[in-house]
Amino acid sequence: MEARVVSGSLAEIQADLLVVSASPGDKLQGAAQQVDAALGGALTSLIADGGFKGRLFEYEWIYPAAMPTRRVLLAGAGKSDQCDLRVLRRLAGAVVRQARNKGVKRVCLALQEAQGVLPEQHAAAIIDGALTGLMEPDLYKEKSDRTEVTEIQLWVAGDEDAARRGLDRGQKIAAAINFGRWLAEEPSNIMTPVRAAEEAQRLAADNKLQCEILGEEEIRAAGMNSLLSVSLGSQWPPRVVVLTYKGGGNGPTLGLVGKGVTFDTGGISIKPALDMHYMKYDMCGAAAVISTVYALARLEAKVNVIAIAGFVENMPGGRATRPGDVVKAANGKTIEIINTDAEGRLVLADALDLARKRGAERLVDIATLTGAIKIALGTATPAVMGSPQSWVDDLLHAAADAGERLWQMPLFPEYKDQLKSNIADLMNTGGRFGGALTAATFLQQFVADTPWAHLDIAATAWTEKDSAWQTRGATGVMIRTLVELATSSAAS
Ligand code: BES
Ligand code: MN
Ligand code: ZN
Repeated sequence: MEARVVSGSLAEIQADLLVVSASPGDKLQGAAQQVDAALGGALTSLIADGGFKGRLFEYEWIYPAAMPTRRVLLAGAGKSDQCDLRVLRRLAGAVVRQARNKGVKRVCLALQEAQGVLPEQHAAAIIDGALTGLMEPDLYKEKSDRTEVTEIQLWVAGDEDAARRGLDRGQKIAAAINFGRWLAEEPSNIMTPVRAAEEAQRLAADNKLQCEILGEEEIRAAGMNSLLSVSLGSQWPPRVVVLTYKGGGNGPTLGLVGKGVTFDTGGISIKPALDMHYMKYDMCGAAAVISTVYALARLEAKVNVIAIAGFVENMPGGRATRPGDVVKAANGKTIEIINTDAEGRLVLADALDLARKRGAERLVDIATLTGAIKIALGTATPAVMGSPQSWVDDLLHAAADAGERLWQMPLFPEYKDQLKSNIADLMNTGGRFGGALTAATFLQQFVADTPWAHLDIAATAWTEKDSAWQTRGATGVMIRTLVELATSSAAS
């Protein structure tokens, strides 16, 4: 895929398709206005006739003999006061998918300006949306008859340097997101804990990252019995990946911790067969932290980050953890494992503790942690919980600046009562009520007083249906936010 910034007269554009956009009730902007003028007001009359309203993801194909790009796609951007970074990114994804469906190879995107979006962000969002929109996970199909888009031109009227910076940034972030999505899409017989660690190692070797991998013996020696307990039913040994990116700067070291359950059967507390196959995506948190440091390395961000991915497979087996077993975590706390299906928190407990021991001064963990968050918030947004509030606010701001949704959920002291065990310091489940919140409260017991935020992406890391802008499957949610969090701390 080639991507570049172009400017000047649209009549000179060399491409198979030119895409412009419009919003309901607004005057045509920029490129759309130019096309309209070149076609003697064709777009204006289409809109005046009510043939095109400008609703988001509404399309009108035009075949003007008079223009060198023989096809024009007029795309609806929705109401302009709602056309923000996130909508713009999705619009870009949607139009390149439309273009690909028509066999277009070289496409020129000339989408409208969006609400409060700077030229650099505009370019980054469009190329990000396009590249993540074109990603297809049909890894194991014998052949595909799809024609691929080979060239994306980003047409801008204004600051070309800013657009080029945005294009570069957006391409790097999108590549990292697609890498993470691929990790999650690979089936669990391929993407085992061992293979996942090898992928991290390969990434590190290619990208100025340090990589250390702890195997079963090192994990046991480090006292990480909580994480280890999850892997015992599996024929695959656990792997803890420690990826370090030293970009410099004098900000605090950021620790990113990801849940990497390569398959979650539930263990002895086994899950029902229906929908169990989805549990290959129970490693999206780990994929997100690896993708984030990959992006930061390629962006040469001036930050120091340590990413820890805890890879395990949660299986029943002769050596598997039983409900009622007690383990001692690396921080010395004992855990009564009531339900072996609440395994993510067992992995993160030791991984968070390791991040602190390796020098992380701020913590963010990310995990497909609970079905309960899907009940609470649906699939519209991931959740954040943590303390202090200022650190949670940093995450909320980073999400807003990255064009991703994020919603805070509470961590009231009462939730801790639900985790009281008779024989150990904690139980790993807190009953039926507030399941996402008791899970987060469990994690809080392993971060001491280090600022910490927890992202529950169980409801958002995977989609069951194709959308206009993206194929179904792994979404790469929150990678943009984590990159933004890290790079904005470098800037300030
Ligand atoms: N990996 C699951 C959570 C999950 C559910 C992710 C649906 C994606 C989609 C997690 O390990 C789990 O099984 N959680 C249990 C916890 C319960 C046993 C306390 C849950 O949410 O049901
Ligand atoms: Mn589980
Ligand atoms: Zn799980």
